[in-house]
Amino acid sequence: MSETLVSLWTNVRRRLESAGVDTPVFEARLLLEAGAGVSRLDIVTDPRRPMSDAQVEAVDALVQRREAREPMSHIIGRRHFWTLDLAVSPDVLTPRPETELLVEFALKTLAPDQPARVLDLGVGSGAILLAVLNERPKATGVGVDRSAAALAIAAANAEALKLSDRIELVEGDWANGVTETFDLVLSNPPYVASNDIPALAPEVARYEPKLALDGGADGLDAYRAITASLARLLKPGGVFAFEVGQGQADAVAALAAAQGLFTTPALRDLAGIPRVVSGRRAA
Ligand SMILES: C[S@@+](CC[C@H](N)C(=O)[O-])C[C@H]1O[C@@H](n2cnc3c(N)ncnc32)[C@H](O)[C@@H]1O
Repeated sequence: MSETLVSLWTNVRRRLESAGVDTPVFEARLLLEAGAGVSRLDIVTDPRRPMSDAQVEAVDALVQRREAREPMSHIIGRRHFWTLDLAVSPDVLTPRPETELLVEFALKTLAPDQPARVLDLGVGSGAILLAVLNERPKATGVGVDRSAAALAIAAANAEALKLSDRIELVEGDWANGVTETFDLVLSNPPYVASNDIPALAPEVARYEPKLALDGGADGLDAYRAITASLARLLKPGGVFAFEVGQGQADAVAALAAAQGLFTTPALRDLAGIPRVVSGRRAA
């Protein structure tokens, strides 16, 4: 019997459930939209529409990838972050909801019309810096990453958001090549302890770039490197904020304090985990 839209959707949902995917109903719809070229409205209003062999095969190819626990963001090639719809690829970390807390902090720190200079160390897809620049029209920023492939994605996202003229993307090892000073320094660096990576969800452990995850033996290597240059990167009175992993907030605040910077209590994410360590250089 040939497939209809609703029978195909049901089959896909069941396959995703068996593969251990967390949100099979939602993802089945996205895979049908991407593979069969149908819309959300078609699924609701025309569920008995017959599917062609080509549509069924295209959907099957996507489902096989998801059954192997490839992230949805890689299969679809896009991810929503803050107010932005971003291009993503296997070369960048898929932006996470908890990272929106860093954006929220940055937007509270910068006045709406402030012509601020913002530095994002480990810019990846551009998620953090682009979200901030998009809402602070007079701000400009520099995004550094060691991965040229990640910087190409960030550049494509900047172009699509018409923010290319306010962002400079630089290939480098943290702030080693950065000589300017900034009003705000942001970073969501790799912070997973090397030995913990294999135990992460398959979507992360198998598919996300190791360069975006691996924080060394205790997960803190990147913070050590970044805090070492933090005082010289900040203007007097300049602010820094870093995303941290669970249980890392005190250690990261201590690294910043050891460089003579003032720190403030960490902000907690929706799960109650201290997630953003921030502070400032004396005015
Ligand atoms: C956790 S990801 C964050 C990406 C993005 N900012 C976000 O929040 O979605 C960390 C980023 O740091 C970059 N990175 C790792 N080591 C680096 C280094 N030594 N210098 C600069 N960037 C580095 C990775 O390539 C990756 O893009």
